[in-house]
Amino acid sequence: MENYKNFHLIDHPLIQHKVSMMRMTTTSTKDFRELAQEISLLMAYEVTRDLPLREEEIETPICKTKANFVAGRSIGVVPILRAGLGMVDGILTLVPNAKIGHIGLYRDPRTHKPVEYYCKLPIDAEERTLIVVDPMLATGGSAVAAIQFLKNKGCKDIKLMNLIAAPEGVKAVHDAHPDVEIYVASLDERLNENAYIVPGLGDAGDRLFGTK
Ligand code: PRP
Ligand code: URA
Repeated sequence: MENYKNFHLIDHPLIQHKVSMMRMTTTSTKDFRELAQEISLLMAYEVTRDLPLREEEIETPICKTKANFVAGRSIGVVPILRAGLGMVDGILTLVPNAKIGHIGLYRDPRTHKPVEYYCKLPIDAEERTLIVVDPMLATGGSAVAAIQFLKNKGCKDIKLMNLIAAPEGVKAVHDAHPDVEIYVASLDERLNENAYIVPGLGDAGDRLFGTK
């Protein structure tokens, strides 16, 4: 997995600490939500590392100088509903001008295949660098489908950001979309018989929204 050119494990100590706290069954809904935002903010710093810069002349109180500003493609954040919503505000703290698109997918509990129920993207989505966000990359079915959906709409510059991934999910996205950079905070061991990530953190949507 670490051999995949498009795979990035962001394992800063602060991120590892916060992921460990998210895993714990004793973590409250409020803390779980805050941790998801905090990790997303920290990861966004790395995910946006290759943003192009442009030079502009400015004036400081001392003199004129050339200074760098973020240039080129602007960013779109695309949460996969529901659980992806829990990562959006953290990214917006760093990139407040990003536009937000939404893709609604849920996993059929029997087949584990993604079922699409909603999609609304920024009008200029195909001109933006899109960061697809979802806390969990399990079989990869949801992420592969969401990315394909964006490509079908003409989007070309797509990154994927997950908090926890199973090797099976990383492989699925890598095989289907080798052009998409994948950023994860933790690469876990495997999937269980219900296609849940082991050790994982359980059902991310339910834990974020307190629905179970
Ligand atoms: C979860 C998770 C991902 C998906 C991952 O969503 O947030 O979207 O499962 O599984 P996969 O990699 O096997 O597709 P879920 O379908 O439970 O919907 P929810 O966000 O509405 O809870
Ligand atoms: N969806 C989740 O929320 N958790 C998993 O472990 C797998 C899919």
